Amino acid sequence: MEQGIRLQKYMAEAGIGSRRKCEEWISKGMVQVNGRVVTELGTRVNPKEDVVSFRGKPVEPPSETRTTVLLNKPAGYVTTSRDQFGRPDVCDLVKIPGKRLYPVGRLDYQTTGLLLMTDDGDLAYHLTHPKHHIPRVYEARVKGVPDQAAISRLERGVRLDDGYKTKPARVRILKQETDSAVIEFTLYEGKNHQVRRMAKAVGYPVLRLRRVAMGPLKLADLPEGKYRMLTEKEIVMLRKASGIKE
Ligand code: URA
Repeated sequence: MEQGIRLQKYMAEAGIGSRRKCEEWISKGMVQVNGRVVTELGTRVNPKEDVVSFRGKPVEPPSETRTTVLLNKPAGYVTTSRDQFGRPDVCDLVKIPGKRLYPVGRLDYQTTGLLLMTDDGDLAYHLTHPKHHIPRVYEARVKGVPDQAAISRLERGVRLDDGYKTKPARVRILKQETDSAVIEFTLYEGKNHQVRRMAKAVGYPVLRLRRVAMGPLKLADLPEGKYRMLTEKEIVMLRKASGIKE
């Protein structure tokens, strides 16, 4: 049996970034093991003996206990660190002593709702991998009231501004008002700004967008800006839904 764990897994579990990102950094020569640059993706390390450094700084070995929280993201926060405009970052909203949690995937600056934050790189990797894309449910208030033909088009798939045709989705009207409506989208893929671009493609631009569910997890009545720990049961369901083999 081979000794140790793969370098990219070690880094992801230490919370540095997704496994894919870590692979990229290794290939670019940004990672050292015991003081030597390593670019070989198959490299194995022993967490008890080897010293791994990233961008010249030692990487703390993966902690035994992982933390995953569910945040209700408010509008006006970015999910990427080091935003070029210096806008507030969701990491400012989750302060747990001794922990650095990273957002799982992205939500737009103005989108609110369910966002997972974790230091479990393996879970983040599986949750963002297109192969096991678990459904995400969004509620969008749109300008105008879409007719059934527009809803059917959204369900079957629409061509976005870059020519990409979206995969089948579940779409339904939750509420209709005189000049706007609330539409529920259940998506099984995650392209950039997908809901906004889909709604625009059929002529009903999004005014407000909120993510209300992700696989087995629901936002429920958690107030904006607040977060809660996931329960053991939720973590088990999430790992299963994201294709992690125990
Ligand atoms: N789709 C969007 O358009 N924006 C988000 O933030 C999430 C999904």
